[in-house]
Amino acid sequence: MSGHGDAQPMKSRKSGPLKGVASVPGDKSISHRSLIFGAMAVGETRISGLLEGQDVLDTAKAMRAFGATVTRHGEGAWTVNGVGVGGFQEPADVLDVGNSGTGARLIMGTMATTPITATFTGDASLRKRPMGRVTDPLSLFGARAYGRQGGRLPMTIVGAANPVPVRYTLPVASAQVKSAVLLAGLNAPGETVVIEKEPTRDHSERMLVGFGAKLHVEKSAEGHVITLTGQPELRPQTVAVPRDPSSAAFPVCAALIVEGSDILVPGVSQNLTRNGLYLTLVEMGAEIEFQNPREEGGEPVADLRVRFSGAMKGIEVPPERAPSMIDEYPVLSVVASFATGKTVMRGVKELRVKESDRIDAMARGLEACGVRVEEDEDTLIVHGMGPGGVPGGATCATHIDHRIAMSFLVAGMAAQKPVAVDDASPIVTSFPIFESLMNGLGANIRRE
Ligand code: S3P
Repeated sequence: MSGHGDAQPMKSRKSGPLKGVASVPGDKSISHRSLIFGAMAVGETRISGLLEGQDVLDTAKAMRAFGATVTRHGEGAWTVNGVGVGGFQEPADVLDVGNSGTGARLIMGTMATTPITATFTGDASLRKRPMGRVTDPLSLFGARAYGRQGGRLPMTIVGAANPVPVRYTLPVASAQVKSAVLLAGLNAPGETVVIEKEPTRDHSERMLVGFGAKLHVEKSAEGHVITLTGQPELRPQTVAVPRDPSSAAFPVCAALIVEGSDILVPGVSQNLTRNGLYLTLVEMGAEIEFQNPREEGGEPVADLRVRFSGAMKGIEVPPERAPSMIDEYPVLSVVASFATGKTVMRGVKELRVKESDRIDAMARGLEACGVRVEEDEDTLIVHGMGPGGVPGGATCATHIDHRIAMSFLVAGMAAQKPVAVDDASPIVTSFPIFESLMNGLGANIRRE
């Protein structure tokens, strides 16, 4: 079933060697944040390389509803004329943020310390996801949340008229929750402090400093202590969005499992809070060269030369690495099915509350493709069948989850029989050019 429109079945058949350059679109996390921070700055923020995926377009629409002027000038080239911290106006209608947990949670944080009321909804996937993890800390600022049972959307947030600053220790490793608290802290007087035991993606911290907020991070026995001084005047910025390492994961993993492949994936983030998949693949024996390391859009990046790697072995993925590769476990589990030996992924229960229950979605789909899988609440274990060893020949359910859809289409590129997905339509949320990019490299992915 798809989020809004009709389901789009798709089938991936065994692919010839992948060759060429895979230029993936802009980073989804940074794209959302450039629009949101731009809307909170006074003056014009210019953005290049913005991901024009549905999730980000929904955030752009929401920023307009709060009073910012958001304009598209050409492919990935956007401007945002912001209304300033505390300057959000009350939206005239319900905000539909589609499939995006990041959009929902960050925007809730952004408006929670302004005396306005906003109602959020989303597609059938997002309406199942827990929002209590953000509304709990937002209530400490003085905001109130009225949602469905279990803290589910649709949900109305009544922003605090007299917000107080907050000191909050994250109970889950979540950059979305961390960012929601920091965004709420922007319009609270005094210092808001967020403590995270395990480091998660740090784009909000980096970008807030870039936009002129006073923020510092200290490492202590408790973890990272992030202190933000409230009510700054944010200055508009020029943001060059780097490519998305979570999207790059799909061509990279495909090249590793399709015999004879040799591709270049330029500008892949080496930010330590995002590069866990790449460390893991190298430990498994993947042939990846990290060429031309440099900075792009304030992020450390490298060009990845990736060759078919027939000698990959299953490993134990260190659980503490999970936050830096949280979105990459689905496609890692596909690579693991083509490796020799078992790959053990522990400490991954957060995968159960993503766009779908990703442990369950991958386990069921891989099993249907003939792969042995074990799982418990917090663990996924994949028994590898070696290069070319996955039978395939199944149709896998994607549960309105873009990364599940793309992962199984990658599996079909190297499996013995084709792998189909029941609905590839959610791919537009994060990687609208997936089909053409993969087919351009040599894949055989077709709509059914
Ligand atoms: C994101 C954080 C992660 C990630 C999501 C994007 C972000 O979610 O899965 O795709 O941009 O902050 P959690 O914060 O729920 O781990």
